[in-house]
Amino acid sequence: MQSRVLQLEEGKDPTVLSRTNQSKALPLRLLQLLVLFLALCIAFSFISLYTIRHFGVQSVVTSVKSTFQPCYEEPGSLNKSIRPPSNLIHTMTDKELLWAASFVPRIKKYPFQRVPKIALMFLTKGPLPLAPLWERFLKGHEGLYSIYVHSLPSFQATFPPSSVFYKRQIPSQVSEWGRMSMCDAERRLIANALLDISNEWFVLLSESCIPLYNFSIIYNYVMRSKQSFMGAFDDPGPYGRGRYNEKMAPEVNITQWRKGSQWFEVNRKLAIQLVEDTTFYPKFEQFCRPACYVDEHYFPTMLTIQAGNLLANRSITWVDWSRGGAHPATFGRADITEEFFKRVLEGHRCLYNNKTSSICFLFARKFAPSALEPLLHLAPKVLGF
Ligand SMILES: *[C@@H]1O[C@H](CO)[C@@H](O)[C@H](O)[C@H]1NC(C)=O
Ligand SMILES: *[C@@H]1O[C@H](CO)[C@@H](O)[C@H](O)[C@H]1NC(C)=O
Ligand SMILES: *[C@@H]1O[C@H](CO)[C@@H](O)[C@H](O)[C@H]1NC(C)=O
Ligand SMILES: *[C@@H]1O[C@H](CO)[C@@H](O)[C@H](O)[C@H]1NC(C)=O
Ligand SMILES: *[C@@H]1O[C@H](CO)[C@@H](O)[C@H](O)[C@H]1NC(C)=O
Repeated sequence: MQSRVLQLEEGKDPTVLSRTNQSKALPLRLLQLLVLFLALCIAFSFISLYTIRHFGVQSVVTSVKSTFQPCYEEPGSLNKSIRPPSNLIHTMTDKELLWAASFVPRIKKYPFQRVPKIALMFLTKGPLPLAPLWERFLKGHEGLYSIYVHSLPSFQATFPPSSVFYKRQIPSQVSEWGRMSMCDAERRLIANALLDISNEWFVLLSESCIPLYNFSIIYNYVMRSKQSFMGAFDDPGPYGRGRYNEKMAPEVNITQWRKGSQWFEVNRKLAIQLVEDTTFYPKFEQFCRPACYVDEHYFPTMLTIQAGNLLANRSITWVDWSRGGAHPATFGRADITEEFFKRVLEGHRCLYNNKTSSICFLFARKFAPSALEPLLHLAPKVLGF
């Protein structure tokens, strides 16, 4: 064994010797090669650095651009189908719009971060005199709501770009109180709001409505509710069952006939049912004519039949019928006092998620334009915004 090791060690020596023989020429060549190699390395790393930066900068620029110019968006990305329409103006007919709004994803879990929004849908003849109150109510809650305004086609809105109502007008057509066209207008509003996949709750409001709490309270109340707030009750009298027409059977049976306030809140599931309906619509169009007011019966009856267990059967919009007559009371400047709001906010009892609650109304009507100034004055103290 020893001899072998020795042999091997001896065998090494000649090479060492031969190296030492070339040792004067080698370092210079090696150095040259090394320098060349280093130079190449540096050059390559510079080139690659530049290309990475170049492409990096380019992709940032295009992605920044793409938020402004959807046309140039990376093809095939999901963004195109989930981003809300940037412009509410479109040229769809009602038929096309309702169809476009009725699309439903079959997979329930969203493959992206979805922050559910509350869609505030204003059905109005013209201006929104209480807009400054709504502006204050919504301030600081961007991304949690969207606004839609349906006014008469002849009306030109003039909100400044800083307003939450700026360019939130949907293409509209004439609507008349108590006729099918009123429900058409409501379905048009819902359908436009459905085009934004983030909208989860849909609230119908009028130009005379006000919010009764701050935004967080209203958002949470609606979000946590297991039921939608559609007023629906069985009124045995002449203004209830008395308006039922037997020709609506078998689609609508008199025991299913409901009446309720026009001002509702529904979730996305029910909103889609309202726009996709082709079963009940023709019945109401044909057989619910004055003195049957279709906007008081169509949605409550239809949803009671299709999804009664999902309804709270009460409206969340407070209104005062105590003065009697065909129209509820309208409140003006002189009515707006702290005592008035005590009456509106307190002393109620209702079911909320199957439990008794003292908060029963989130909105109230009807308020005249003259009420705006005292409302703005009292809101921080009484309404919390
Ligand atoms: C999609 O949009 C989100 C934000 O809105 C953005 O972070 C993401 O990069 C976009 N994806 C594509 C492929 O454009
Ligand atoms: C809304 O009102 C509630 C109760 O008054 C309060 O606790 C909460 O901080 C308010 N939220 C905002 C955002 O002002
Ligand atoms: C209405 O429906 C109820 C129960 O669903 C039934 O008992 C009744 O016979 C129906 N009436 C008519 C007129 O179809
Ligand atoms: C609302 O009415 C429907 C049918 O009329 C019923 O099934 C449902 O339980 C009611 N909702 C509540 C909260 O009572
Ligand atoms: C509501 O409460 C009643 C009695 O407290 C109970 O019988 C019923 O099952 C509850 N409904 C729901 C939907 O939790």
